[in-house]
Amino acid sequence: MPRHPLPSPGEEPPEARYVHGHHDSVLRSHRWRTAENSAAYLLPRLRPGLDLLDVGCGPGTLTADLAERVAPGRVVAVDRAEGVLAEARAEAGRRGLDGVRFRTADALALDFADDSFDVVHAHQVLQHLADPVGALREMRRVCRPDGVVAVRDADYGAMSWFPEVPGLAAWRERYRRVASASGGEPDAGRRLLSWARKAGFSEVTPSASAWCFATEGDRSWWSGLWAERTVASTFAERARALGLARERELRESATAWHAWGADPDGWFLVPHGELLCRP
Ligand SMILES: C[S@@+](CC[C@H](N)C(=O)[O-])C[C@H]1O[C@@H](n2cnc3c(N)ncnc32)[C@H](O)[C@@H]1O
Repeated sequence: MPRHPLPSPGEEPPEARYVHGHHDSVLRSHRWRTAENSAAYLLPRLRPGLDLLDVGCGPGTLTADLAERVAPGRVVAVDRAEGVLAEARAEAGRRGLDGVRFRTADALALDFADDSFDVVHAHQVLQHLADPVGALREMRRVCRPDGVVAVRDADYGAMSWFPEVPGLAAWRERYRRVASASGGEPDAGRRLLSWARKAGFSEVTPSASAWCFATEGDRSWWSGLWAERTVASTFAERARALGLARERELRESATAWHAWGADPDGWFLVPHGELLCRP
């Protein structure tokens, strides 16, 4: 059972707060995620009747996709932030997934008994945690012995793009510094295997996959949300508060994103590490 009670948001140390926050510019990217574009490595393991836990579910579009595949299995989704769960509940409701339960919990102290779920999933969560190995241990604990723990995280250091518009490299370096100063690991993808081994999994199947944004529509969407995140999200507040960016530099990053997005040759690759782990 959990080792730490969940602190109220006011009691949280700043480094424990999710670096992006839940500004609409952040949620626009989360809402786009589907089982096909973000959990393809897990899909062959899903079947009706499995019980599934989604850790760090955010606005819940991915949770809802997974829930459709395991229905009538029990699905519980948790996030440390209460605020985003209303949107997740509404998304499940719109899809008629009334059995899915959403509630707050900390990935480091999951309040579920040992061996509670067949599938324990976390997408783009471990990179934000100060103790990703501890979270994997918790996910392993609540997973049944014949179940699977599935995790997927981006790797900011391995992202690549074209053309090399002035300012995007500086954006990446600034993001990596802010994420690290917030207790996370922006280059999580390449580290997932080492974390799972430390967490004690008996069998780990690693793989990688990528998002590619290179059509006019994708460029416009991806550059627009990043330009806005750079100046208006929790990331921007955090960057200013930590003294890691001045207002002018944040605006320059936003301009760089718009310049990349307007280029018909624009290409952006987001690589992800992913693991299927047997407890
Ligand atoms: C990048 S979002 C991913 C949301 C969703 N999994 C998706 O891919 O669309 C990360 C989520 O993890 C949540 N989170 C961060 N730290 C957490 C923790 N310690 N325990 C549970 N959730 C956490 C954040 O509040 C945020 O909603």
